[in-house]
Formats: sequence, structure tokens, C-alpha cells
Amino acid sequence: MAKQAAAVPFTSIPLEESSATPLYHQVYQRLRAAILLGQLLPGTRLPSTRQMASDLGVSRNTLMSAFDQLIAEGYVEGRVGSGTFVSPTLPEELLEARLKTESPRKISSHERSISLRGHVLANTSVTVLTRPPGRMRPFTPGIPALDEFPISLWARLIARRWREESRGLLNYGPAAGYRPLREAIAAYLGPSRGVQCNADQIVIVSGTQQALDLVARVLLDPGDEMLVEEYCYTAARAALVGAGVRLVPVKVDESGFDVADPAVSSSQARVAYVTPSHQYPLGVTMSLSRRLALLDWANRAAAWVVEDDYDSEYRFVARPLAALQGLDHSGRVIYVGTFSKVLFPALRLGYMVVPADLVNAFVKARAAVSWCCPIMDQVVLSDFISEGHFTRHIRKMRSLYAERQATIIQSLQREAGDLLAVTPADAGMHIRVFLPRLDDRAVSAEALKQGIVAHPLSTFFLKEAPLARSGLVLGYGAYSARQLRDAASKLGTALKSVAQASSSSVAA
Ligand SMILES: Cc1ncc(COP(=O)(O)O)c(C=O)c1O
Repeated sequence: MAKQAAAVPFTSIPLEESSATPLYHQVYQRLRAAILLGQLLPGTRLPSTRQMASDLGVSRNTLMSAFDQLIAEGYVEGRVGSGTFVSPTLPEELLEARLKTESPRKISSHERSISLRGHVLANTSVTVLTRPPGRMRPFTPGIPALDEFPISLWARLIARRWREESRGLLNYGPAAGYRPLREAIAAYLGPSRGVQCNADQIVIVSGTQQALDLVARVLLDPGDEMLVEEYCYTAARAALVGAGVRLVPVKVDESGFDVADPAVSSSQARVAYVTPSHQYPLGVTMSLSRRLALLDWANRAAAWVVEDDYDSEYRFVARPLAALQGLDHSGRVIYVGTFSKVLFPALRLGYMVVPADLVNAFVKARAAVSWCCPIMDQVVLSDFISEGHFTRHIRKMRSLYAERQATIIQSLQREAGDLLAVTPADAGMHIRVFLPRLDDRAVSAEALKQGIVAHPLSTFFLKEAPLARSGLVLGYGAYSARQLRDAASKLGTALKSVAQASSSSVAA
């Protein structure tokens, strides 16, 4: 019987279309690296060129050229009638023996090669900011109302702490985080989010991405699969792929992540990453029956669910929904929260609530990566929470965001109601609008010319996207009513210009 084809790592990472390196060579480099790293072992059968071409979203010719080169160099061999296999003897072993007898030669920087992991990290879709922090252009999503943050109060709390006990705070701190902060978080999460935990289960991290990186390292091996939502937060994707995870996209509809999607049963994944309170970017809330089905899957598959609860505090229609973690009685949920949305992103503080039996592994991993988060920030944050400023700030921001959402929706309807479909979001600091007739990437590019950031919805879709709906993700949290109205008017101009261009091209 023919051996089953191996899963090839890193096929979920898009190739770099704009790179000077031809696509076939990028495929060749990845396969060669996977073979040399031992991720594809000698004798392993590779999937067909047709299959890999479709996974990578490139033509079959591209794959055939990559295979031809690997065959020519001896990394793989074709066996008539049964497919292509990794060679039993790798050319690198032969090459190494030969190099020992040759005089060393200067290696040009062009030839210097980084690891496969380095290559993957260097090519993730995460946006690298290069400018100093400052004001964002509307409608950049994910930014809270920075103007409203009580900055002088924060400064007073910092000054008080430095005066009182600065020497002790200069030392390394506990890897799991400053104890009073962990206690304050545990005390907040129970009543406000329905999370069942004690302070011992809380690990302070420097944001959601670090939490995901730790999840990948502690629970998975390189090349293991993880279920993610299809549409998915791009920075989460980057953190996971960078940690060697193979992403398995799972359908999301109006009721949220659907564990009945056949992609789940045909995968070996033992971890699912979800945003149940407020799916990013679609904005839907996972229904109770879907939540229970997901927990049931986790129990049956001895799997974990990573619940990213990034902006759940801001719910406008009813009381915030209780977290999935609170429904779990088997220690299968790892809850991740962040202070980036409730306070400010530069703080770079977030937390994980870890099942009791995993605490030791996560705390050790946290220490191994970078000891601990900055202590003074944790101390001041714990004062901010325990002295009541935190809940006061959330209450104030919730009504501000509700107003800002009403403003953006009214302005968009007024400026371009016939070109987009917009409905109110139940929660959060962004809305997504659908564009029934226009290409979202074209609209986004046109909006940028007007000085407006409007992320195309299709870029959040993992696969190259016949299924992706055209739409935009528009943040409103950080912008005043005036800024939102101005930006909506500019976006209206961009939409009209793309509509006009596409109707003239149809007429021609
Ligand atoms: C889904 C999701 N999770 C988490 C975050 C916050 O990430 P961090 O804690 O790294 O700032 C964001 C920010 O936009 C997000 O959209």
C-alpha cells in the first residue's frame, strides 16, 4: 500500500509575491529547509504538486520547478507510479564531507542564510511600526481613546511608588508577575467576566502575542496544528506561525466559531484559538450552544481552547457575556486578557489564566523567555485597579465608545450608504462594513490616498480568498466625533472613486 503523504510544514504562510526571489525558489528553499531541519524525514512521501500548489495558492508549474530543482540536487527523488520522496541520503551530508577538504571561501551576504524559523518570522504578515509612537490616522483599529486616559493620575501613582519604595523595585521580579497585581486581576475577573480562578493561576505577560507564543511553545511541537478562526487577527496568526504552528482555519458565521466544520474533524489539532466575546474582525459573539460544543470537543480530544478576551469590557447591548473559561469544568481553557484596549497599548501588559496543572510549565516558560514583565508598571497597574480607577475608567469609556460608534455609523451612512452595508456592533472599538459591489483592497488603497486607514476584510482571511467577503475593518475608539465625520467623508470619496472606476471598466 502506498505510504501516506506527509504534512508539509509552513504551507499556511503566504509566499512573498513582491520578493526578488522567484516563487519557485521560495518553495524550494522552504522544502529544503524542512528536510534539513528533520521536519520531513528521509523516505517521507511528499504531497502531490497539485495539492501543494493549491495549499500555497500558486500554480502547479511553480511547484514542478521547485521539485525539479530538489530532485536535481538530490534532496528528493521521484519513484515512478508512487510519488516523490525525501532522499534517504541528503546531499548536505556529502557536501559537508567535501567542504572539510576545501579552503574556506568568503560568503557573500546574499548567500548567508538564516534558519527556517527566522525565515518564517521575517515573512509573517505582522505590521512592523517604525515611526515613534504618536497619533494614529482614523480608522486605524485596535486603539483605545488615548486622549481620555487619566494620564496625570497615572503619573501621580508612579511618583508615589518611586518615592515610597523604589530600591526594592529595581530588582528582578517574580516570573508569574507581581503578586498584588495577580490578586487584583483575579478579583476583577470573577465578578466581571465570570472567570473562575485564583491568583496562582495568573501569569502576567507582555501582551497577547507573548501569551500565544507561550501557548505554542508549551503545548505544541513545531509543525503541530492549531485551529484558528477564519477570518483571524493577523498579529495572532503571526505569533503562532512564528512559533512553528500550522494553522487550520475553521469557519466562523453569525454564531461564531463552528467546531462542526469538517476542517476540525480532519485535523490533528489539540489547541483552538478563539475570540468568543467579540470575534476579530467580524465582531460576532459566539452563541452558548457553540461554546458548549467547543468545550465538548476539547474534552473529547484532550485539547485546549485559548480564549482571547481582548475587548470584552466594552459591550453596549446587554451585560458583558460570561467568559468561556467560566463554563469549563475540566481545565481545558486558557484565558488571555490584555490591558491594551482597556488602558493603553504602550503598557504592554496582559495576562493568562492557566489551568492549575499547567501553571508550573507556563511560569517556567515565561521566565525562560525574559524573566518577567517590568515591575514598576505592574505595581502602578495594581494600584490603579485596587483603588477603583480601573472600573471607573471602563464605565466612562463604555459610554464614550457607544457614542463614537453611533457617530461613525451615521456618518458612513450619510456619506456612502448606497455603497456599503453597515450594522451596529454589539461590542468593542471597531465595526466591519461589507462592500457588496467593490473590491476591498482597491477601496483601502484609494482611502490611503485620502489619508484614511481602512483595512480590507479580505486580508484577515487565511486562504487566498474566493470565499472572503469584501469589506472594511474600521476602528472608531481613538477618534473624536469630528475626526470620525471628516474621515467618513474622505472614505465616501474613496468609495465613490472606486465605484466610478469599476463601472467605467465594465462599460468599456
Ligand atoms: C483579537 C485581538 N486580541 C488581542 C489584541 C491585543 O493584543 P496585545 O495584547 O498584544 O496588545 C488585539 C489588538 O488589536 C486583538 O485584535
